[in-house]
Amino acid sequence: MPEKRTVLVTGGCGFIGTNLVRLLVGSGGYHVVNLDALTYAANPLSLVDLADHPRYEFVKGNITDRRLVPALFEKYQPAGVFHLAAETHVDRSIVSVDDFVQTNVIGTYSLLEAAHAYWSGLQGERRNKFLFLHVSTDEVFGSLGKEGYFSEETPYAPNSPYSASKAASDHFVRAYHQTYGLPTIITNCSNNYGPYQFPEKMIPLMILNALSGKPLPVYGDGANVRDWIYVKDYCKAIQRVFENGRAGEAYVVGAGNERRNIDLVRQICDFLDEIAPPAEIHPLRERGLKSYAELIQFVEDRPGHDHRYAIDAAKITRQLGWQAEVGFEAGLRLTIEWYLSNLEWVKQASSGSYGEWIEKNYAWRALKEKK
Ligand SMILES: NC(=O)c1ccc[n+]([C@@H]2O[C@H](COP(=O)([O-])OP(=O)(O)OC[C@H]3O[C@@H](n4cnc5c(N)ncnc54)[C@H](O)[C@@H]3O)[C@@H](O)[C@H]2O)c1
Repeated sequence: MPEKRTVLVTGGCGFIGTNLVRLLVGSGGYHVVNLDALTYAANPLSLVDLADHPRYEFVKGNITDRRLVPALFEKYQPAGVFHLAAETHVDRSIVSVDDFVQTNVIGTYSLLEAAHAYWSGLQGERRNKFLFLHVSTDEVFGSLGKEGYFSEETPYAPNSPYSASKAASDHFVRAYHQTYGLPTIITNCSNNYGPYQFPEKMIPLMILNALSGKPLPVYGDGANVRDWIYVKDYCKAIQRVFENGRAGEAYVVGAGNERRNIDLVRQICDFLDEIAPPAEIHPLRERGLKSYAELIQFVEDRPGHDHRYAIDAAKITRQLGWQAEVGFEAGLRLTIEWYLSNLEWVKQASSGSYGEWIEKNYAWRALKEKK
């Protein structure tokens, strides 16, 4: 275990952030200061059990705040930054780009400015060991055809406003290293799944829609391929990179689980048929539903929809000895079971503008009563 160190995590109330904060505060032994603006994507229930933990502090605030962020560096004197705060939903970025530019581009730039000013004033070991770890996505590389993999050498070719804003943030992070010497590392990871993911993302959406007897919308012909990684594996990779990675470099991260969207949705349906059979769920039984797969509906494709993502994670394995530990089928079961056991969290995540449907939904009530 490393010496106890204070680190600043941004976006710690989001999906990956929640899992990462738990890892760092827990077995990681870090003192975590979590800066999060609590946008629609955050769920205050996610870290409620850490509220009184001696190594955890929450600060509600925006990474674009040019007063707050430098004051946090001054107050906590962090040994490094894990930068996760972002607008992350591709579909939302297609509808409205502004928040993506504000948070992902301007926010990252503001954070880099504050980190650079703070780091410039550090001396000796503290200066040498400081690290700004920028958590980015493989979507900055665009789309693959049937063959090939993304690696650290892949040229950037973002296709959505989301991936363009993340690409811009990556370029600023790189530039602060090249120009000012700020020790930075970028991780570009494939699609994560697991506990605490906001219910509008694909895997939780399918699980929750199925249990509610709602259609399971699959874009286009369902042939788009994503490479899935269990979120706890990714968090371990992030910690490994923070502790042992080389400043100025990037690491692509993935677990080698390529699946066509339609195959993934069918697999979720198969597991749900086994774990929570529709015949046991009140309104679904009445509708005579035999398998959740009957709810699958193909819908008009997303504009600019990347065809395939796949990761060659050889560098992080070779250089840092990291490898994913959770197999895809095991991780998917764990995820389904987590959502079934955390209905209060789902309700909270789905409250407000997003989720009136869940409140009104009979299937959920029936399931909750049953448990
Ligand atoms: N989820 C994935 O599959 C995936 C894959 C690769 C990379 N990433 C990257 O990992 C990071 C985290 O992703 P996630 O899925 O956990 O995201 P998320 O949408 O679940 O969470 C984002 C968090 O950032 C916070 N936030 C947003 N704007 C903010 C602002 N201006 N100031 C402070 N906080 C703000 C939100 O409140 C939320 O808690 C992102 O940078 C994303 O690009 C995600």
